[in-house]
Amino acid sequence: MRSKNDLDKGLTGYGDADFASYLRRSFAKSMGYSSAMLGRPIIGIATSASGFNNCHRMTPQLVEAVKRGVIAAGGLPLEFPTISLGEVFLHPTSMMFRNLMSMDVEEMIRAQPMSAVVLIGGCDKTVPAQVMGALSADVPAIQLVAGPMMTGRYHAERLGACTDCRKYWGRYRAEEISECEIGEIEHNLAVTAGTCAVMGTASTMACLVETLGLSLPGGAAIPAVHADRLRQGEATGMRAVGLAQSGIRPTQIVTRESLENAIRVLLAIGGSTNGVIHLAAIAGRVGIDISLRDVNRLSESTPVLVNLKPVGEYYMEDFHAAGGMPAVLRGLKPLLNLNCLTVTGETLEEQLARCPEFVDRRVIHSMEDPIRRNGGLLALFGNVAPNGAILKCAAADDRLFEHGGRAVVFKDLNDLAARIDDPQLEVSADSVLVLQNAGCVAAGMPEAGYLPIPAKLARAGIKDMVRISDARMSGTAFGTIILHVSPESAMGGPLGLVRTGDEMKLSVRERSIDVLVSEQDLQARRREMPATRVRPTRGYAKLYADSVLGPEFGCDFNFLRKESARAAK
Ligand code: FES
Repeated sequence: MRSKNDLDKGLTGYGDADFASYLRRSFAKSMGYSSAMLGRPIIGIATSASGFNNCHRMTPQLVEAVKRGVIAAGGLPLEFPTISLGEVFLHPTSMMFRNLMSMDVEEMIRAQPMSAVVLIGGCDKTVPAQVMGALSADVPAIQLVAGPMMTGRYHAERLGACTDCRKYWGRYRAEEISECEIGEIEHNLAVTAGTCAVMGTASTMACLVETLGLSLPGGAAIPAVHADRLRQGEATGMRAVGLAQSGIRPTQIVTRESLENAIRVLLAIGGSTNGVIHLAAIAGRVGIDISLRDVNRLSESTPVLVNLKPVGEYYMEDFHAAGGMPAVLRGLKPLLNLNCLTVTGETLEEQLARCPEFVDRRVIHSMEDPIRRNGGLLALFGNVAPNGAILKCAAADDRLFEHGGRAVVFKDLNDLAARIDDPQLEVSADSVLVLQNAGCVAAGMPEAGYLPIPAKLARAGIKDMVRISDARMSGTAFGTIILHVSPESAMGGPLGLVRTGDEMKLSVRERSIDVLVSEQDLQARRREMPATRVRPTRGYAKLYADSVLGPEFGCDFNFLRKESARAAK
């Protein structure tokens, strides 16, 4: 009697299990595998390469490296594709499709016979989508990220996507550089495969996944084109076989304690505001709530240690050379839950004890000499954001932290594009720019929260203003920008009631953002608002609009969160 193996898992439903097993073996053999290979533990490799995803250009080489590791450790690697989310190639926004990718990953892990899965992703939404899917499928899983791009050069300056994209675009808008120069810069901003070269969302998520214990130590920052990246791939493949044997599942790794570590690290690396949303979504998949008040509590006692753009000076390749995530985690040790389990089977503490001790203090500061003592990211609340909003203080101008100003309101993205550079726009450096209808339901929550400085102010040398919206912001952007206002304006959130000319008040000290209009007047405005919006009637757009939750729930779908998570809704 033949003993059962991975290939017998989850048989196709023909009503005859022996027939289904025989047919599957027969078809697997058509791919040239021997019976001995088909008897090995199967390691799925979820890949997200795409011609529409420049960041994942090295995926084929990474897959080969992973396969090498799996075979060396006695497994059978079987690669399978899922959808890919190339940040700049998707309309209206990649965020809208993160949940779709997570469903694809979850269902393909569950539907196909495997003992463990290697998740290969990198670009902003792909890693959270893969982690969310793997947590819901709850098969042993290990993440391998694409790794960051190397920097380019323009004349004597280093360039890295995408903080420098924004810097030079701002200078072009201010007419400080010519059409010809911006064209040359365009050639040199993104010069290798890999994810954005700064501490943007992709790098942030790579660091958070390493902190959570879902990837091998030291891997988050290895450049995409570095030979170490392939060695990391090989080691990941080997470890996937170990995970298959030990049966450690991702829900044993992602716990309240490891999520708290991830929030600490998000704050300490000056990470992307998108990290807050993705962590909330990841937590929701295991029935854990992360509230914005938790972020504020941890922010009080977590210093910013990493001197990377957009908050500081350096790039991801420098971060890797400076010691990378092990150096950050070692520096934060007194604040971390060190007993958390990781994919290596060790605790975080045991894992850190094996990592090299080198650290370059120009790039990774100590807790005794931080870049900022606390408050890298803060949640704000007030009458325009009853469920909260986020401000990345570390990337903002602290002269604007206690600020009052007149609102200049744009009712949506089209209105913003049409009027922001209008010479007749009544706006001054003290104004507060307000963008409405850019949240999940209205617009897929695009990275439009980085409202451009109106051209006439940019030409006058204004570099920062208070801006507020229900949109998100790229992790590579900077400025005094209040994001993720919840509830979103299109769903009745009070941000939609703000009118041009209203006085707005931001107080970082009070953690507040308000419009200085009485509740009575706001209610009167609400009664004048049109009752309904047109909603999509078919396909994924309908599923999305009907099911997406607010940013405080990670913008996940209500039916994908684990039942016991707060207001499974
Ligand atoms: Fe893919 Fe920035 S565009 S990480």
